Amino acid sequence: RIIDPASNLDGVRDLLVENGKVKTVGQKLKAAGATVINASGMLVLPGLIDMHAHLRDPGRPDKETIASGSRAAALGGFTTVCCMANTNPPADNPAVIEYIIAKAKAEAVVNILPVAAITRGLKGEELAEMGRCFAEGAVAFSDDGKPVMRADVMRRALEYARQFDVPVISHCEDANLSAGGSMNEGEVSTEIGLPGIPAVSEEAMVARETLLAREYGRVHIAHVSSANSVKIIRQAKREGTPLTCETCPHYFTLTEEAARTYDTNAKVNPPLKTKGDVQAVIRGLKDGTIDVIATDHAPHTTEDKKVEFNQAATGLVGLETALALVITRLVGTKILTLKEAVGKMTAAPARILKLAGKGTLKAGADADLIIVDPKAEWTVDAAKFASKGRNTPFNGWKLQGKVLYTIVGGKVVVRDGKLTD
Ligand code: DOR
Repeated sequence: RIIDPASNLDGVRDLLVENGKVKTVGQKLKAAGATVINASGMLVLPGLIDMHAHLRDPGRPDKETIASGSRAAALGGFTTVCCMANTNPPADNPAVIEYIIAKAKAEAVVNILPVAAITRGLKGEELAEMGRCFAEGAVAFSDDGKPVMRADVMRRALEYARQFDVPVISHCEDANLSAGGSMNEGEVSTEIGLPGIPAVSEEAMVARETLLAREYGRVHIAHVSSANSVKIIRQAKREGTPLTCETCPHYFTLTEEAARTYDTNAKVNPPLKTKGDVQAVIRGLKDGTIDVIATDHAPHTTEDKKVEFNQAATGLVGLETALALVITRLVGTKILTLKEAVGKMTAAPARILKLAGKGTLKAGADADLIIVDPKAEWTVDAAKFASKGRNTPFNGWKLQGKVLYTIVGGKVVVRDGKLTD
């Protein structure tokens, strides 16, 4: 059963790959000498595109490398991953973009597309070398991990990025409101005695970005987690603002209750919120306000996580659990159809990032595709991740939906659920 939202296809077909491209999708195809994969009873989908991941390269090979992150991606069904700029050194100049592309060519098993920083050193003061980073191959701009606090700097970034028609991805957080906090501010933070971050910290910046986008150029809002953010984005989109956004599996699956046991794997930025926020995120996914599901894969070492909640690093790994969480929590519950869900992980990011030949299985597209057993049940075991990060709040969860094959440019990189290399 091939599901290709970009060509509005959901049906049982054969698919022929030749020279790294999709040659034909049709009934009863024959091709002499071709390798045949029998995928009856399975889903064949365009390879997933994660427009938001942290691969920690350069700088923190103990947390992740392009080699390990790309293998985690392949196992999770992602054939294209955009890696964020908050590395060490940050991706704020063309040399780092060039390094990432070269490293990816040498050791990645999926496509790696670098996101360049908006500001020099991610300091929020001066614009980075955006034009030269774009020329070197950056597909978007973001200071993700940190907000661009100065509206005048964000304005210049939007005006500048507009000439390349590349999105600026905004990490929405008012750093003054969030300062010192480590989880969502509310009843739970009060009860367990952790300093809170008010939801307004995200929402105020989402509101600012919608106003800036209307005047100066398109914005993609990263990791939407709050009900008011969804409401503000919905309204702005209705008014024709050039705005897109994403959420992540943890924001439609978990609430702030996950932090009650002081499990530092539930410490993430923006913080997990209330049941009402989760319901609003789900409504936003359903009505199309939220365009994309991304992972915000943020690997950290055990040393960085096995400390007091306040001291712990922020973030969780997502590449190897995202698709199964989408299938289990959104499709299995009939919140989204498979086609809608797959669209948010393929066609939508390809459209926003203007990735030609990606996110679709149309004839002529890159042969990036996955075969998924939608019914297979499995138990998350972080110890077995290909990612170096073990920091998942989903360890031990039973999920549905298993990636059997991942094919990148016609090359099989995952076979029978295992890496080939
Ligand atoms: O939880 C997070 N971790 N959120 C971010 O925005 C950055 C990320 C990281 O780099 O660890």
